Amino acid sequence: MTRRRQIYEGKAKILYEGPEPGTLIQYFKDDATAFNAQKKGTINGKGVLNNRISEHIFTLLSTIGVPTHFIRRLNMREQLIRQVEIVPIEVVVRNVAAGSIVKRLGIEEGTQLPRTIIEYYYKDDALGDPMVADEHIACFGWASQEEMHDIADMAIRVNDFMCGLFAGIGIRLVDFKLEFGRFWDNDYSRVILADEISPDGCRLWDMTTGEKLDKDRFRQDLGGEVEAYQEIARRLGLMPDGDNMILDLETHRKNRGK
Ligand code: TMP
Repeated sequence: MTRRRQIYEGKAKILYEGPEPGTLIQYFKDDATAFNAQKKGTINGKGVLNNRISEHIFTLLSTIGVPTHFIRRLNMREQLIRQVEIVPIEVVVRNVAAGSIVKRLGIEEGTQLPRTIIEYYYKDDALGDPMVADEHIACFGWASQEEMHDIADMAIRVNDFMCGLFAGIGIRLVDFKLEFGRFWDNDYSRVILADEISPDGCRLWDMTTGEKLDKDRFRQDLGGEVEAYQEIARRLGLMPDGDNMILDLETHRKNRGK
């Protein structure tokens, strides 16, 4: 068997060379990290669920005209994507106070924000992804003014769409993180949505009970991570009826060995 060339390994995903030039294969791992990888663990089956959830959301976003790197899902843990040059900025959109904004500004968790906030963080693990302003991004050339305009515009469109999508299944979209990449077409590039959208990078609370159905269960040692991710997949209509888990062989083996 020929081994595929690995391009990059991140905390939750691996990128392999794709079948055609300009494509990559994105593999979703079960690894979970928090607090800049100071906390590490495994959530068995997370990769399978995130692959499916992200496919679903990216597909819906492309139908409303948000360009994304997603081409198609290949199997339980992999999707074919367009190769992009990642813009080194994490874009966080907040509707409700939670996480770092609560600590930084002393706002009570769960406070509905009077308007949506977009924040930017410079992607640099050694620096712990510091928050930056538009001025830093322009000054150090991490993205052009035009790219930042497109990014902010897309972030708002994604937020509006996802707020509605999740409200329709009884979930409050508290906040989430997006990443963008430059897609080259001859000498021109445009920014498109990249990475993934899954409970790893979103805060999703049940509208009636307030239950957290996202990676905060892992960050805060609440337990029930797989069940929470499954519940999101189930409400999105991605789990066959009566099936409590979409599992691949790899996950079956891991769970049997527990
Ligand atoms: P924060 O409140 O910790 O700043 O996180 C805001 C949102 O961004 C939350 O939904 C989790 C997500 N996020 C990531 O996806 N990756 C990260 O490294 C961090 C810090 C947050």
